[in-house]
Amino acid sequence: MTKKLIVLFLVFLLLGGCSPRVIDEQQVDKNEKIVIKFSHVVSENTPKGLAAIRFADLVRARTGGYVEVQVFPDSMLYKDGEEFEALKSGAVQMLAPATSKLSTMFPEWQLFDLPFAFPDMTTAHTLMDGPLVQELFTDLQEQKFLGLAMWDSGFKQFTNNTRPLRKSEDFQGLHFRVMTSQVLKAQFSELGAQASAMPFNDVYQALKNGTVDAEENTISNIYTQNFYHSQKYLTLSNHGYLGYVVLTNADFWKSIPPEVAKILEDTLREVTIWERERAGEMDQKQLVALEREGKIEIAHLSQMERLQLQKTLNPVYELLSKEIGPDLVNRVKKIQEKGE
Ligand code: LMR
Repeated sequence: MTKKLIVLFLVFLLLGGCSPRVIDEQQVDKNEKIVIKFSHVVSENTPKGLAAIRFADLVRARTGGYVEVQVFPDSMLYKDGEEFEALKSGAVQMLAPATSKLSTMFPEWQLFDLPFAFPDMTTAHTLMDGPLVQELFTDLQEQKFLGLAMWDSGFKQFTNNTRPLRKSEDFQGLHFRVMTSQVLKAQFSELGAQASAMPFNDVYQALKNGTVDAEENTISNIYTQNFYHSQKYLTLSNHGYLGYVVLTNADFWKSIPPEVAKILEDTLREVTIWERERAGEMDQKQLVALEREGKIEIAHLSQMERLQLQKTLNPVYELLSKEIGPDLVNRVKKIQEKGE
């Protein structure tokens, strides 16, 4: 930062950091700005998409334009499988991948994929905001990643073309697209179905041309990616959780002046609360929109049907315990039982 900018910035901080015009954007030289490229793979009209934009807007206002967060949605810059290299090389500075996508480097993150891991969102948040995720964040440092926050997408549902998926036999012979995760593969194998991992941005085409005939995802992704255009049945099962790790490059974060990093971190904390609220709301609203459009038949599983499915999928915990780490799996089980 030049002297002029430091003085302006200090005035800005002294005034409580809440007057967006203390440093005017016009006064910030283009070359003095901190630019954060934030890349993600989903549509803008999703909880993650909107939260990334909100973060960018708040940060611009609170730093008077000194920090510019540029958001690239819809795999526009990098897709699954490319994002992590881009973060390491400094081509982008922020990502928010689904936890499952970390699993090739960090298998322990697959604990979020365990079927029926969380009975409700509050339980999922208990885990995300507790010591367990802080331990997982520490592991990320191996790759020079810094975990900044945990965001929600929501609970996953099944879509397919053959029939509503009410019992395990209904899954026989179907071919599901999954995110990269051994847990997700095992889940479908327990149900007698096939599963292939593929990047998110390929799913629409793969469903359309029949490479796969089924998938699992949250309502916001099913709705905004138009998966329902080429799928006949949506089964509301809430069988798995889909959440995100907001990540940055640890070296990059260290290079930001501490008072600026604090503004970014405080803003992110606030946006995280906002994001989780939006996720809950959008899940409901976009389900209503799907019902209204009437293009996909929607089946609601009964409590009995969910319990039966959960029982069928229980062996996945044992099968993947070694891969994830038995201690972590046990801690998830305990959280399930009583909330941590
Ligand atoms: C998926 O690949 O299905 C999701 O992880 C996409 C996302 O980021 O929500």
